[in-house]
Amino acid sequence: MSEQFDFLVLGGGIAGLFFALEASKHGQVAVLTKRARVEGATRYAQGGIAAVQADDDSFDAHATDTMNAGVGLCRRKAVEVCVREGPERLRELLDCGVQFSRRADGALDLTREGGHTKRRVAHAADLTGGEIERALLAACDERQNITFFPDSTAVELITLEKVARASGSRANRCLGAYVLRPSGEIETFLSKVTVLATGGAGKVYLYTSNPDTATGDGVAMAYRAGARVANMEFYQFHPTCLFHPHAKSFLISESLRGEGGILRLVNGETFMERYHPMGALAPRDVVARAIDGELKRSGDDCVLLDMTHLPSDYLVGRFPNIYATCKSFGIDMTRAPIPVVPAAHYQCGGVDVDLHGQTSIPNLLAIGECACSGLHGANRLASNSLLEGVVFGHRAALRAASLLSTPLDTAAPSWDPGDAVPSDESVLVSHNWDEIRRLMWNYVGIVRTNKRLHRAHRRLDMLRSEIRDYYWRFNVTRDVIELRNIADVAMLIVDSALRRRESRGLHTTLDYPERDEAMCHDTIVTRGELERPV
Ligand code: SIN
Repeated sequence: MSEQFDFLVLGGGIAGLFFALEASKHGQVAVLTKRARVEGATRYAQGGIAAVQADDDSFDAHATDTMNAGVGLCRRKAVEVCVREGPERLRELLDCGVQFSRRADGALDLTREGGHTKRRVAHAADLTGGEIERALLAACDERQNITFFPDSTAVELITLEKVARASGSRANRCLGAYVLRPSGEIETFLSKVTVLATGGAGKVYLYTSNPDTATGDGVAMAYRAGARVANMEFYQFHPTCLFHPHAKSFLISESLRGEGGILRLVNGETFMERYHPMGALAPRDVVARAIDGELKRSGDDCVLLDMTHLPSDYLVGRFPNIYATCKSFGIDMTRAPIPVVPAAHYQCGGVDVDLHGQTSIPNLLAIGECACSGLHGANRLASNSLLEGVVFGHRAALRAASLLSTPLDTAAPSWDPGDAVPSDESVLVSHNWDEIRRLMWNYVGIVRTNKRLHRAHRRLDMLRSEIRDYYWRFNVTRDVIELRNIADVAMLIVDSALRRRESRGLHTTLDYPERDEAMCHDTIVTRGELERPV
């Protein structure tokens, strides 16, 4: 059975929905989400969306802050495009009905976050992503040209090369995807343009701020299809996630520090002034590394984020979600500091794209966290991710519209299950899943060494071959699809980290502690390279 659309979007977060809204003016759009359509990382974004608004701000200042955070690896054009087009896209979000927080005079309330020299982050209290997702879904529901397919997981991209009717990247193009549907059947979705908007891969690490959907599907599928993948060594750890045995890595937004929060050791001492002139509002890589170092030195389990000097009414009104969640764990942030630790948060690399989201495979676009547009370089500036989602979602829709004359390839074969049978040993899936997340946390975390990376490489090599074997022998399930993707993404991170023989931004290694300007270039990996020794 096959479904046919002009545009096939994998993922229903901010980038995918913003793309869908613009693309639906030009053709029929299918949006696939792995779980309920609202479920994904966008919904959990707290801080906000960065865009120049204030009179004392400028495009130059936003660009400079972005490039400073990115430590030499941001692509200037991508930064300029995002910074300059951001305010117009923000207006379009307002037109879609997003209710951002406002000041008493009616103007947008702008907050600050790490690495920003100005207040430029628009927010909806501390539930910005949830409010954006709500408004975009409502806007999509008003468009007849957009069809949602929830509980539908892409298994693999279909390319001309794969169906063996062309060879070489020039003749290659993406034809759509094979998709596991709620019935358990794998259906063929054919499209003129396929768009990866699958988000990040935080689930590759044991501790993450990301929801369960963040399994790196877009990057893994694109890599297997032969697309260029860039800068996967730069995985961002958010400095402050709630430390509590029963909290599943709940994020404590950087905007708490933007509004005056103070980081302290458990003995009450402040420490960030020793690490950076911007103190607790330094770029994220600096703060996460500082906390990691202090915890290793002291042996403490966490540091503290102190808000108790700010008025209670203000805290409850400005951070209702964080206040209520902390309270549910017995922490009253108006009276006691919040225990926090760093956790995996954001994938700064991804499928390599141009300024319109075009990957190295024709008719395959990638946007949002799964793409490497060059905006983030070696470390993303806070609240630039929602911005990237709307700017590149819009630009990719314009590119997609220009590809409408591509014929649908209705001769693409259906999914071939081969000799697969129902699995008799699901324990392999849960065991390997745990092992990957733990080894990534222990060996490929905030501070790395060659020895640990090589150890991770060897383990992953073995695990990937076990998972491949299981994948071909048994019926495909969502758990197996996600495990296979997480294993491939883990290997992409390790392989890229081994290639970068310097410390820069989010990649810190004790073997090469200094920055090396000879290495100031993207790390590019393409199909087959993971199987070669680094
Ligand atoms: C936060 O609220 O701290 C997260 C915002 C972001 O990741 O940009």
